[in-house]
Amino acid sequence: MDDRIITTEELDTDIFEKSLRPLSLDEYIGQDEIKENLRIFIEAAKMREEPLDHVLLYGPPGLGKTTLAHIIANELGCNIKTASGPSLEKSGDLAAVLSTLEPGDVLFIDEIHRMPKYVEEILYPAMEDFELDIIIGADGKSRSIKIDLPPFTLVGATTRAGDLSGPLRDRFGIVSKLNYYKDTELQQIVKRTSRVLNMNISDDAALEIARRCRKTPRIANRLFKRVRDFALVEGTGEIDKEITLNSLQRLKVDEFGLDQIDIEYLEALIHKFNGGPVGVETISTAIGEETSTIEDVVEPFLLQEGFIRRTQRGRVATDKAYEHLKTNRQESLF
Ligand SMILES: Nc1ncnc2c1ncn2[C@@H]1O[C@H](COP(=O)(O)OP(=O)(O)OP(=O)(O)O)[C@@H](O)[C@H]1O
Ligand SMILES: [Mg+2]
Repeated sequence: MDDRIITTEELDTDIFEKSLRPLSLDEYIGQDEIKENLRIFIEAAKMREEPLDHVLLYGPPGLGKTTLAHIIANELGCNIKTASGPSLEKSGDLAAVLSTLEPGDVLFIDEIHRMPKYVEEILYPAMEDFELDIIIGADGKSRSIKIDLPPFTLVGATTRAGDLSGPLRDRFGIVSKLNYYKDTELQQIVKRTSRVLNMNISDDAALEIARRCRKTPRIANRLFKRVRDFALVEGTGEIDKEITLNSLQRLKVDEFGLDQIDIEYLEALIHKFNGGPVGVETISTAIGEETSTIEDVVEPFLLQEGFIRRTQRGRVATDKAYEHLKTNRQESLF
């Protein structure tokens, strides 16, 4: 399940992506509003010779939050230190990272919503007053000490802004939501990747990948990489539309970016349960997948793209789903 080619999760085989990351705002494709605002805020911070305000980036996986955090540091001309919410288990872990910061540095905390509460509380004075309040010594003899920190910029990233506590969210001066990409933007991302990886792809082939990548650059790059393999071994070495369509068909990624599990889900819903309403547990038993997988991994995209609806009585297939499976509502009743 985890190695579905259309998963938005970062896979081990995505390591190559690091080299694919654009390094400047100019190279970063799409998210125009965020980019233009950041450009101004970065410029202003540099003019004032002050650190940039703390930045919170949120949005679905694979849309470029980590990439943008590195770009912010680059554009500021500063170093970036990285940590992730779950890795900051003890207050000492955060104190250790904070104490390595130099003036103006960016501290990037990924999955910031998964930071323990007591670690978060140390972050408040650090963000507001560039001060670290820590307690040293064992009980009885313990005392609190204050350490001055250099001015720095915290960049937090999260896929779940709703899970962030109010006090933490309020301490970010700049809050930006990343949106899904347009096909033409994804096409440019694929073209850029093809240049970086030195394997040419035609415009129409790049657009075909763009249409099937679930509006997500990470998936676009992954599909490109697989199509590239087919083109290398079976094609002319050039990636054209024909080899792209053929590869995507063999990868079982259809024109909406749905894969085999999505299709099995829709087929069960329509053919076995008359299009619903039917409970999610029933569907998961029918196709042999865990209910949690269905809810967290399969349904969000189907809902977002309007193939299914969630009602009080269960899941319902929409007209779009019937059309996609080329099934008539009447036919499916018999
Ligand atoms: N705007 C963009 N322009 C070009 N490439 C991009 C862009 N956004 C993302 N990418 C590509 O997509 C890949 C995934 O992006 P990134 O790792 O930054 O996503 P993320 O939002 O941090 O995901 P996660 O929530 O899983 O951490 C990058 O390595 C990069 O190659
Ligand atoms: Mg990331």
